[in-house]
Amino acid sequence: MMRNRLLLGVGLVSLGAFSSSCSKESKESPPAAPPPAAAAAPAPAPAPEEPPKPRMSHEKLVSFFRPSAAVKAATPEDTAAQIALGRMLFFENRLSKNHDISCNSCHDLATFGVDGKPTSEGHKGQKGTRNAPTVFHAAGHIAQFWDGRAATLEEQASGPMMNPVEMAMPGEKQVLATLNSIPQYVKSFKASFPREKKPVSVANAARAIAAFERKLITTSRFDKFLAGDESALTEQERRGLELFAASGCTTCHNGPAVGGTSFQKLGLIEEYPTEDKGRFEVTKNEEDLHKFRVPTLRNVEKTGPWFHDGSVKELPQAVRLMAKHQLGMAFADAEVDDIVAFLKSLTGALPGPEVLAPPTLPPSTRTTPKPDPT
Ligand code: HEC
Ligand code: HEC
Repeated sequence: MMRNRLLLGVGLVSLGAFSSSCSKESKESPPAAPPPAAAAAPAPAPAPEEPPKPRMSHEKLVSFFRPSAAVKAATPEDTAAQIALGRMLFFENRLSKNHDISCNSCHDLATFGVDGKPTSEGHKGQKGTRNAPTVFHAAGHIAQFWDGRAATLEEQASGPMMNPVEMAMPGEKQVLATLNSIPQYVKSFKASFPREKKPVSVANAARAIAAFERKLITTSRFDKFLAGDESALTEQERRGLELFAASGCTTCHNGPAVGGTSFQKLGLIEEYPTEDKGRFEVTKNEEDLHKFRVPTLRNVEKTGPWFHDGSVKELPQAVRLMAKHQLGMAFADAEVDDIVAFLKSLTGALPGPEVLAPPTLPPSTRTTPKPDPT
């Protein structure tokens, strides 16, 4: 116990040293962690049957997860027609070269928007180098992809169709030929973009998919806690949340999605072994070497394996690695258990079948391009 407290103290000192640079890129600085004195104060040894007193107020805890103006401003209005079209396109195998892969293949909505593999298999079983992140709560991210190379969901959504290791469509022409050959799609695009001369376009397909993705939100007990119900978290989850905040995890994992508000170096305090240059690939700026868009921790229990390369297979291991490489600290086993308990409270209820059930897709016609296994 003593050892834990000492280690926590060390962590907070190092946090104090870097927290200003850490929050540099978020539009709104997240609230600072409490001063080291809070943790260094001698804690009375609690009797085993007496639950330990909370060290951080509900108000303080909630303050780490408020929406940032930057993310809120980016939310456009979506119509019911666009959302319905986006849902069909999300499940549409015919947007892949061999008609065998859809967005849902790698971001399975029934399993919290992931495929559970370290790296996904695309066209002809080819593998990319990065883990498929969940599409749930992706709308709450400042940018898309581990390196943030797409600014918005709209910009992201057209990428996979033409990516040779993902859906491998040879080009926009093939996507348009497919959509235009299916009368029900032509009708749905018209209904979704009524004022446009050429409603069937790759940009509008991406726009509709993004509208659908903005519906991919889960609600968990943590939301009840945020809304004011302190009894929504168990004693252990509350302890985990307090440690999560006090040790500085919230410097990076903050906002409503518990992440997604900034780019941060993986290995900030202690170098992390990875070949992936992260955000540097996009900006070619030395400062961005090994920086990644901080992932959401919503539903993190269900979105493993973890990290950009899917190399971490156990959640407690992810917590230990974060403590070591991002904060320069080591948690005792009981502390890891508490944080993991808190992280599991972020697991939400999936939306109902009106969002998640695979839609009935309109039939192909004579002119629909045929599957191509090459
Ligand atoms: C073959 C697997 C595969 C398919 C098919 C696929 N994705 Fe992905 N998706 C990935 C991987 C891998 C990444 C992460 C790549 C990276 O960061 O470099 C990703 C990233 C994303 C992200 C960013 C999430 C975040 O947190 O940054 C979104 C959103 C997304 N995909 C949506 C889609 C949509 C929409 C489709 C269909 C049009 C689709 N994906 C098809 C594997 C796939
Ligand atoms: C300095 C910023 C920073 C701090 C502090 C930080 N993280 Fe992270 N966290 C990240 C980044 C960046 C990633 C993505 C890692 C990667 O791409 O491999 C991440 C990934 C994770 C993941 C895996 C998520 C996934 O979907 O793969 C978990 C779990 C996690 N962090 C928990 C924590 C916990 C618990 C703490 C506190 C002990 C913490 N983090 C502190 C930046 C941070």
